Amino acid sequence: MIFHMRYLDLKRKIQEIRINAIEGIAEAGSGHPGASFSAAEIMGVLYFRELRHDPSNPTWAGRDYFINSKGHSAPGYYATLAVAGYFPKYEMKDLRKFGSRLQGHPVRYSKLLERHSVPGVEYSGGSEGIGLSVSIGIALANHIDNKDNNVYVLLGDGETNEGQVWEAAMTAPKFKLDNIIAILDRNKIQQDGFTEDIMPLDPVRDKWVAFNWNVIEINGHKVEQIMDALNKASEVKDKPTIIIANTVKGNGIKHMANNPQWHGRAPHNLHIPLLIEELEGEILIAPSIIAGEKENYEEKIKKVERGGADIIHLDVMDGIFVPNITFLADTIKKLRPITNIPFDAHLMIEKPYEHIDEYINAGCDIITVHAETCDNEKFCYIREKVMSAGISLGIAINPETELPEWAYSYLNDIDVIIVMSVNPGFSGQKFIPDITSKISNLNRTLKVKGYKGYIEADGGIDASTVQRVYDAGARIMVAGSAVFSNSDINTAILQLKHKTNVTLERNLLKKADENSIRKDWIVARKHILIPVANELGIEDEINRL
Ligand code: DX5
Ligand code: ZN
Repeated sequence: MIFHMRYLDLKRKIQEIRINAIEGIAEAGSGHPGASFSAAEIMGVLYFRELRHDPSNPTWAGRDYFINSKGHSAPGYYATLAVAGYFPKYEMKDLRKFGSRLQGHPVRYSKLLERHSVPGVEYSGGSEGIGLSVSIGIALANHIDNKDNNVYVLLGDGETNEGQVWEAAMTAPKFKLDNIIAILDRNKIQQDGFTEDIMPLDPVRDKWVAFNWNVIEINGHKVEQIMDALNKASEVKDKPTIIIANTVKGNGIKHMANNPQWHGRAPHNLHIPLLIEELEGEILIAPSIIAGEKENYEEKIKKVERGGADIIHLDVMDGIFVPNITFLADTIKKLRPITNIPFDAHLMIEKPYEHIDEYINAGCDIITVHAETCDNEKFCYIREKVMSAGISLGIAINPETELPEWAYSYLNDIDVIIVMSVNPGFSGQKFIPDITSKISNLNRTLKVKGYKGYIEADGGIDASTVQRVYDAGARIMVAGSAVFSNSDINTAILQLKHKTNVTLERNLLKKADENSIRKDWIVARKHILIPVANELGIEDEINRL
C-alpha cells in the first residue's frame, strides 16, 4: 500500500518526526539531530506519499526498498518508521539504550533478530559510502527477476567523499537501473565542519551528470518539490535518477540550523518543551492573489513563489455567498501547471457540495468550505469526496460564526480551520480586533479535543496584526494586501515571518523562565537572539552573558 497523505497532514507528520527524534536524542544524551532534521521532509514524503510499503508487514514482497546510507540520521529514520506505524513511538525513549533495538546506527530487520533489529530497516548502516552499492545489488536483482519494486537510497553529501560511492555511481547507469532513485541530502556540513572546507564537492550536479545519471535539483525542505522530483524520476527510463536535495542541517530548530556543533550532540532534556514549541510554531505564509492589481494571477503566483510563499491562497467568490465575484474552478485548473506550490482554495460560494468535484479536479491541495453554507450532512458529503481524493479538508467560519457543534465530530479529518478576521468578500479590509480572542479560545478548545490540524487567520493580516493571531494559535497566515501592496514581495513575506519569529522567541523565553533554564537557554540560543535582542528588550542581559 501507498500512504497518500494529505498536504497539511504530511506537514504535521514531519513535525512529529522531528519531535520524536529530538526527544529520543535528549533522552539518550547523544545522537545526530543535524542529519535527522535535514532529511525529515525527504523521509516524510517517501514514507507518507511515495513508497509502496506496509508497516504491519515489513518484509512484504511487493514493497519498495528504502536504503538509508547515512546511518547516523538514525533518530530521524526511526522516528519516521515509528510515526508510520512500524513500532510504537514510545520506544524512541530507548534510543541508544543498552539492550534497545534502536541503536545509534540502524540494524537491518530480521524476524530471527526481532528484539535487536528494527522493523522497516532494510540495511545496517553506520560506516558510510556503502548504501548505494547495496541499492544497486537490490535493483539489479529486481531487474533480473522482472520485479517492479523501486529502490530509494538516501546519501549524505559528506559520505560522497568515499571512493566506493563513485564506483557505484558508474555502475548503475551501466545496467540502466531506472529503478534506483538516489536522494542526496545536500546539507553542506559533515562532522564538525562544512563540506566545501573539508573536501569540496561542488559542482555536485555536474559530477552526477558526467556519471550518466538523470539529475534533478530541489529545495529539500519543500515537500511539493520532493514529490514533483519523485514523479519526474519515475518517468525516466534506462537511467538512474539522483535528486540533489538542498537542505539545512538541523532545519527546524534555529540554533541548530546550519551549525556543525549540532552534528552529533544532544540538547538538554529541560530544553525539549521549548524545542517542541518551536517545531510546532512553524508558520506558513499564504498570499491571497485577489489582492493588489486586478487579476493577472499568473504573474502574481510567480512573484510570490520567488518571494518565498509556502501556499497560494485562492479566494473563490460567486457573488452570492459574498458580494463579490473573483474566479471559479476552471481558473484554478488553468493556474495549476504554473507552480507546484500547494493551492489553498477558500470557497466562498453558496453551494460548495454541488461543485466540490470541480475543485477536486482543479488540482487543489487544500479545499475549505464555509460552515455557513453547510450542515452536518452536506459537510459529511464534502468530507468524503475531498478526503478520498487525498486533499486536505478545511472549514471556514465568518467573524460572527462559532465552529458548529457538528464540526467537532470531524476534527480528525479537518486539517485546517479558517477563522475569518474580516467579513468575507474583499481584500484590503481592516482586521477585526475581537478575532484574536476568538482564535485563542478556539485554539484552547481544539487542543483539549486533540485537534492536530491548523488554524488559518484570514483577513487584514499584516505586520501590525500577525503577532497577535500567531500568539493566539494561528499557524497559517493569509496575506493579501500586506504582500501585494508592497513593491518588494520577498521583504513583505520575510517581515511577516520575522514578526512571528520575535513572538516565538518571546514565548520561548517565557517558557525558559517557567522551567528555570533562562540563562542556559539564552547561552544555547545566543546567535539567534542577538538580532532580535532589541525587540525582546534583552540586549543588556545578552551582553552580560
Ligand atoms: C476575504 C478573503 C481574504 C482576503 C485577504 O474574503 O477571504 O483571503 O483576500 O486579503 P487581505 O489580507 O488584504 O485582507
Ligand atoms: Zn480567503
